[in-house]
Amino acid sequence: MTQDAIAADRSSVATGDVLYSIRDLSVEYGTRAGEVAAVDRVSLDIRKGEILGLVGESGCGKSTLGKAMMRMISPPGRITQGELWFAGEDLMTVSEAQMREIRGARLGMVFQDPMTSLNPLSKIVDHLTETITTHEPSVSEAAARDRAEQLIGRLGLRVERIDDYPHQFSGGMRQRIMIALALALRADLVIADEPTTALDVIVEAQFLDLLRELRAEFDLTIIMITHNIGVVAEVADRVAVMYAGRMAELGSVDEVFLDTKHPYGQGLLRAVPNIELDGSDLYQMEGAPPNLLHTPSGCPFHPRCPHVMPICSEREPAFAEVTPGHRASCWLFQEHDGEGER
Ligand SMILES: Nc1ncnc2c1ncn2[C@@H]1O[C@H](COP(=O)(O)OP(=O)(O)O)[C@@H](O)[C@H]1O
Ligand SMILES: [Mg+2]
Repeated sequence: MTQDAIAADRSSVATGDVLYSIRDLSVEYGTRAGEVAAVDRVSLDIRKGEILGLVGESGCGKSTLGKAMMRMISPPGRITQGELWFAGEDLMTVSEAQMREIRGARLGMVFQDPMTSLNPLSKIVDHLTETITTHEPSVSEAAARDRAEQLIGRLGLRVERIDDYPHQFSGGMRQRIMIALALALRADLVIADEPTTALDVIVEAQFLDLLRELRAEFDLTIIMITHNIGVVAEVADRVAVMYAGRMAELGSVDEVFLDTKHPYGQGLLRAVPNIELDGSDLYQMEGAPPNLLHTPSGCPFHPRCPHVMPICSEREPAFAEVTPGHRASCWLFQEHDGEGER
């Protein structure tokens, strides 16, 4: 990025181009064995119009973060601290009724298996029109049906199929229907949790193309949660890497993939020789993923880190900027006074 581009980028954020702001968010699951720190003091700004890829090993807290953003954490989970600001609104203080309204109309979530969120007894047309008329009572039944048909067509499904039931569609088509539901209400932000995991590569590629088109057409902001580095490299503008419930690295796709700072991210990318072409899953790194019942002290990655220093097990690094906009929580890039050395 040029200095000018960086300056423009920063001023656009400063002038309110952040759509969703997560501040110091923690989510815990109370289990018989103790509290699982699934999301641990995460702060993240999502910019209007971007596709942000959220990556990390299984169990690092990606889905929990996505659900928390929708305020959909249910027991034994709970948000223990932090703030969620969506389009200037403090989501932690709105009522559950208001939250339901926001969730339907402005914040959408697409899951890996849409079957779980589509009522099997309702036709697709009913899903779509009911969604529209519930949230926009002034829209007539006929107008809602019109909008539903247009969307179905836009998503590449034959309009006649609007009268089919969810089980009559393939996985890829059901993903499209989930997107249609989010778009039916003109959602501002869609959180897609592993949306392409169950799809074959061709369908996945089509789905990703579609997302990019829809982003442009509907002015969507998208968070794409995935363990597939190829997917992120292909569609995302920026990447956030999570480790042990915390943010490890954040930056543009180029910054994070070509100038990786965090040793965890370096490990993830080592096995992907060409991210442009290769839709590889995350490489299985040596050492066990951390147990979030007992997150390691200091930097949680220190037990597996090839560059570990004495300070790493003693003090937690800040999630600090390495260059403007590119953050990493790693002592290799931060001044320290040697505290922690024995
Ligand atoms: N309902 C639950 N009860 C207890 N622990 C949970 C529950 N859901 C998730 N966790 C734990 O929270 C951590 C983060 O899980 P998750 O957000 O699903 O990670 P990811 O989506 O990155 O795979 C994991 O340690 C997981 O075992
Ligand atoms: Mg998950």
